[in-house]
Amino acid sequence: MTEQRKPRVVADTPLADSVLELMNDRVELLPWDVALEGCDEPVDGLYTYGHLEVDGAVMDRLPGLKVISNFGVGVDHINVQDARDRNIPVGNTPNVLNGATADMALTLMLASGRRLVEGDVFARSDEFTHYDPGYMLGREIHSETVGIVGMGRIGLEVAKRCLGFNMRILYYNRRERTDLPPELNATYTSFDDLLTQSDYVVLVCPLTDETRGLIGAEQFSRMKSTAILINIARGGVVDTDALTSALKNNEIYHAGLDVTEPEPLPRGHELLGLPNVTIAPHLGSATEQTRFKMAELSVENLMLGLAGEPLKTTV
Ligand code: 8YV
Repeated sequence: MTEQRKPRVVADTPLADSVLELMNDRVELLPWDVALEGCDEPVDGLYTYGHLEVDGAVMDRLPGLKVISNFGVGVDHINVQDARDRNIPVGNTPNVLNGATADMALTLMLASGRRLVEGDVFARSDEFTHYDPGYMLGREIHSETVGIVGMGRIGLEVAKRCLGFNMRILYYNRRERTDLPPELNATYTSFDDLLTQSDYVVLVCPLTDETRGLIGAEQFSRMKSTAILINIARGGVVDTDALTSALKNNEIYHAGLDVTEPEPLPRGHELLGLPNVTIAPHLGSATEQTRFKMAELSVENLMLGLAGEPLKTTV
């Protein structure tokens, strides 16, 4: 009797320990080079987490590919149409990261408005010799207006948290949502109205052809000079050069970024030297609990796809 071979899976690396544990020797892992160079042997699965491009050419280099499973909800690095054309299901990890990612939006709003990172550096420095009622005045969060761009699952969680801060909530979305909790009192606005009225503009939309470069020089010119831009979506939603010049010229007050384009920014990039920007290294879903749930769901999708069964969550 011939021994059944383990499914062969090309994976973006390094894999999180939790992912490796859950795969539990059930698959044979192959390095990403195989996706770039191709392979004569069958490759059953592709496991990704976001930064390497996967298009039809990659898929065609992996003979017999049955499933692509992504550790993360955003799949802008995967050409989903190419996968559909080849009948390859693409799994992602929605829902399990809504809370953590929304918490990150609030973290950046608070840190940006209240100048937390600048304050931390100052408090540790020799310059902090005495309390001064005039230093480091920031901007309020509570009772201000937040404009949420992209009222999906994560956008809704952001809105709920903003309600706790007694904020006025505006949102812009592909279409108006009639199913929002009434207590949010969220107003559907045009994109322009959202830009001109918001104290906090929070980007939570996926990166698509429509949203690439959504915030550029023209949009910055419409925003309040006291406005704070928060990006927990993808760096490509914002034009990096326009953002750099808006911050340099104080066209807006501050930017709180979990993502940048490119990511990471090249060392020495002008944006990294500006005081009015707070940057996190793509930490939106980075809590122990959420990353474990993402690992579970992405490995489950992978194993289902390898077995030829429908995935739990697909795009
Ligand atoms: C992930 C994310 O950390 O889910 C997403 O789309 O941006 C993050 O939660 C990222 O995909 C890298 O794994």
